[in-house]
Amino acid sequence: MIELAGVSRTFRTRSGDVEALRAIDLSAAPGEFLAVIGRSGCGKSTLLRLVAGLLRPSAGRVAIGGAPVTGPRPDVALMFQRPALLPWRSVLANVLLPLEIRGRVREPDRDRARAQLDAVGLAGFHRRLPHELSGGMQQRVALCRALIQRPSVLLMDEPFSALDALTREELAGQLQEVHMELRPTTIFVTHSIQEAVLLADRVAVLSNRPGRVQRVITVDIPRPRSFGHNAHLTDVAAHVAELTDLLHTHEPSPV
Ligand SMILES: Nc1ncnc2c1ncn2[C@@H]1O[C@H](COP(=O)(O)OP(=O)(O)OP(=O)(O)O)[C@@H](O)[C@H]1O
Ligand SMILES: [Mg+2]
Repeated sequence: MIELAGVSRTFRTRSGDVEALRAIDLSAAPGEFLAVIGRSGCGKSTLLRLVAGLLRPSAGRVAIGGAPVTGPRPDVALMFQRPALLPWRSVLANVLLPLEIRGRVREPDRDRARAQLDAVGLAGFHRRLPHELSGGMQQRVALCRALIQRPSVLLMDEPFSALDALTREELAGQLQEVHMELRPTTIFVTHSIQEAVLLADRVAVLSNRPGRVQRVITVDIPRPRSFGHNAHLTDVAAHVAELTDLLHTHEPSPV
């Protein structure tokens, strides 16, 4: 369970204070997939960094499993827009890195890493170096690396936004499968309404800066979901339309 209660964050800069987030109340139940959308600069990455323990709130409280977040934790995995793989390490060695840092890589871990790579379509690429892979393949490696610690919490900051549309859809489908199987509590930041509706149990829409929770909508479409034709196409369209309207609502920024 992830909980943010009354969370605000202001950055001090040389040209004055920047209020990024204001009074955020938001939670994600165990195993839930929560998407967060909002315009550029509304504080989405700040919100994730607060949950990851990379930043402290200026006010309010962030907790995971009832415990206040005081710093990075091994059961919380992060994935960013760029894969940030180590260029001199093989695909397999990159996936195993988080375990190695904590000093224990055993044969079953290697087996699990190989199985994960195979599951995301990277069978036969275990020994390659990152530069020998496409951007989409590298991001799949980053997903496997995030999952190798069997995290209870998965935080993703626009993980597919640097990829072409088809690769994005394919990866979103794979993430859906991974989530259905491992059920980490997930917060997924995206600019893509389609992606949010495909993946999320609920979608939180943030207002323009300072980011506040404008609305949280529930997506109760059965899984697996798909971008193509399916029995729930009208439900998907209705949610996409609702979110589009919300994102285009221009409310005046508070002073
Ligand atoms: N370390 C920092 N120092 C000063 N200001 C910051 C810092 N980090 C973020 N900000 C400011 O806080 C606001 C929110 O930034 P944030 O990166 O969270 O937005 P975002 O919603 O992730 O945007 P995008 O969609 O473009 O990634 C922005 O105005 C940004 O300039
Ligand atoms: Mg961001």
